[in-house]
Amino acid sequence: MRKTLIAGNWKLNKGPKESVKLVRSIGMGLHGVDGCEVLVCPPYVSLPAVNEIINGFPIALGAQNCADHCDGAYTGEISAEMLSEVGCKYVIVAHSERREHYQETDASFIDKINLVHAAGMRAIFCYGEKIEDRRAGRAEEIVRTQLQAVLPQLDSFTPENTVLAYEPVWAIGTGETATPEMAQDIHNLSRNLVAGMFDSNIAEATRILYGGSMKPSNAKELIACADIDGGLVGGASLDSDNFLGIIKAAL
Ligand code: PGA
Repeated sequence: MRKTLIAGNWKLNKGPKESVKLVRSIGMGLHGVDGCEVLVCPPYVSLPAVNEIINGFPIALGAQNCADHCDGAYTGEISAEMLSEVGCKYVIVAHSERREHYQETDASFIDKINLVHAAGMRAIFCYGEKIEDRRAGRAEEIVRTQLQAVLPQLDSFTPENTVLAYEPVWAIGTGETATPEMAQDIHNLSRNLVAGMFDSNIAEATRILYGGSMKPSNAKELIACADIDGGLVGGASLDSDNFLGIIKAAL
């Protein structure tokens, strides 16, 4: 049985003070809520402050990115090991905004995920097609290429150490959501691909999140799909009522 995961990706929002306010308000709203794993991914500088507050709340801490090296002369970078030291349990890797704005490559995703695993954390590996790919009928091909370029190359892939997140780029931050049917089709394809790369037990146990304009009003239908195991939530995770609404819809 795959445990539903609702993850908030705060992106470049919420410094330490605002992060503490937001996570406290999410934590209070989770009183009595059970059956779903909740994760927040604030900006790097807010991680230590949020880590102190989540003690006592059923909330895990994650980072939005990490370096593809473990240490050395890489000005401005933060290593997986450092993230683990400040309490992170998860790290998002290969978000489409990293692919697009920072030209990150498959080779760096492989290194990052291996480092996340080596530091004892879980990676959330993001993938998904752009609007032009979907219009050209190439969504499945893109998803296949992105998954096959990274997953079989990892030192280790298990349902415990890696979560997949299908995020159609055209649905991120646009208010446009994939229909549950569209999303389910890609999630099912992804699970079959994982079965082909590893085995069917691994595929059955691997969690695959949907991301892209998820909100309280569409979360229930999406998460009800057989192969959708939760959400990676951007905009709606910045407001505790909206984020809690998604968590409650997922239960
Ligand atoms: P969104 O972002 O919910 O604002 O569309 C999702 C994401 O980028 O992870």
